[in-house]
Formats: sequence, C-alpha cells, structure tokens
Amino acid sequence: MRESEEPRVGGKEYHIACAPGDVAPYVLLPGDPDRTARISSTWDEVRFRASHREYVTHTGRYKGVELSCTSTGIGGPSISVALEELFRVGAHTFIRVGTTGAIQPDIEVGDLIISSGAVRLDGASKTYVDESYPAFADLEVTTALIEAAEALGVKYHVGVTASADSFYTGQGRPGYNGYQPSRSAESLVDLKRAGILNFEMEAATLFVVARLYGGRAGAITAVIAQRETGEFKPDAGVDDEIRVADEAIKILHEWDTLKSKRGKTHFFPSLLTSSPPRGNLTPLILFPTDLRVPHGKA
Ligand code: URA
Repeated sequence: MRESEEPRVGGKEYHIACAPGDVAPYVLLPGDPDRTARISSTWDEVRFRASHREYVTHTGRYKGVELSCTSTGIGGPSISVALEELFRVGAHTFIRVGTTGAIQPDIEVGDLIISSGAVRLDGASKTYVDESYPAFADLEVTTALIEAAEALGVKYHVGVTASADSFYTGQGRPGYNGYQPSRSAESLVDLKRAGILNFEMEAATLFVVARLYGGRAGAITAVIAQRETGEFKPDAGVDDEIRVADEAIKILHEWDTLKSKRGKTHFFPSLLTSSPPRGNLTPLILFPTDLRVPHGKA
C-alpha cells in the first residue's frame, strides 16, 4: 500500500484516532471501552487521548512509568485493527486485561489466568500467517505478570487459552433457541481434555500479530464464568487483574532499563543480581514454567 493510501484522518490513525506521541510504548488492552477509565483511575496521572468506535485511549503514569490503555472491542478483527495502529504510533509492549470463562474444574470464578499461549480458533490471525504458526505469549511479559501476581498475593493460573471468534457456539454454548452444531459441544470437551484452561476471544490474534511485528504481548484475564458449574459473575477478579497488569508494566520497565544498562537483549533471572554470571554458569533461579499436565477426564 502506498503511504498516501494509509487510512489516516488529520494525521491520526483512522480507528484509534491517535498520532505518534499520543501513546506510550507500554499499552494495556482491555476489550471493554468503559474499562479504560477504570484502569487509568488506578494510575498517578491520566490524560484522555481519544475515543472513536470501540477504541478509547488514555495515557498516563503509574509509579513513574509512562503507559497507555486502549480498549480493543471484542474479538480478533477488532484487536488486530488496534494493534496495527498502535504499532504505527510507537507502541511495542502489550498486556491484554480481559475476562474469560474457565473450562477446568479447579479454576474458580474470581481467579486470574495468565495465558502462556493460545489455540488459534480465531479467523483474524489466519489472514496474517499460516495456521501452523504458534500463538505464544512473550516470555518477559508473562514472567512479569507472574511476578506481579505473586507480589500482590492474588490467585492465578498459568497455561494455554483457547481464543474463539464467537462467545456462544464458538465456546460450546448453545445459540438462540438452543441451536448448536455438533462440533461446538465436541470442541469444548476436546479442549478440556487437552488441558486448555479457558475460553476468551482476543489472545491468539494478539500473540500472533505482536510477534510478527517484533513486539511483546501477554494476557491476563479474570474468570467471570465457570463453564462446568454454570456460575457467572461479570465483574469477578477485574480489580485484581488491573492491579497485576499495572505492576507488570512497572516490572517490565525496570527489567528493560536493566537490560539496556547491561547491554542485553533478553531478560534472564540472574540479571537481577548485582553481578550476572558470565560463561557457562547454571542460573540460580529457574523460570516459572507451566507444569500442568493435561487432564485425563473431561
Ligand atoms: N469472555 C469470553 O469470551 N467467554 C466467557 O465465558 C467469559 C468472558
């Protein structure tokens, strides 16, 4: 596409209505436009930037770190548009702050889920790259989310999420008047058997697009639905996940500063000690990994 064909209006990106300088490099991504103000109300400084369609952007400061929050709307197509335009105005690190339905019995409403990867049941990411390309979260963003969740003492799970393009039939829920294709119910059973933790609608597209464009992305979601028991509480865990996401941005910023001081491209645990090991020393701390085994019973 020629530069002149890029969809900008008055120097701003068409959908998010932001220009370079409006958005910080670190961006929180809720789906719900109303959640932008809820998130930015936890910061020390807030500046309204834009509101256009489902995309509401605030920029501000949390514990000395400049950050932004842009709502993405629901689903892969909508978050892919947000990402395209956020990259164009200078963002590089993204944390989805969303809600989810748990499909494993040991996960309770109000718990938080940090996605280490996502099953690509979306359509948008397929327009970017072949389906065999993995949707996996950035290791630094994921580790920062775990670090923040530990520091705040909230209950969280780490594992693989399924990102669907539909809240109802795409997540094994009957549609209007009980309509449900057979594969809808079967897919839920199969995903549960494979140890997938939860259903939501944006993580896969986020992980794929951010990775292709050289950015970093992670996702934390609050469990508002427990699909086994049928429990549903639309706001459960949301305040906790906002606190974790804010803190994770602060942690990532600290790690990024340390990396640049030490001339390193990647974060590794012993970077936090005053003299990181050189050569072949075994690191003293292991990265948290997902030790969950697939559940035999579904
Ligand atoms: N969001 C989803 O996509 N699914 C749920 O069950 C709850 C929130």
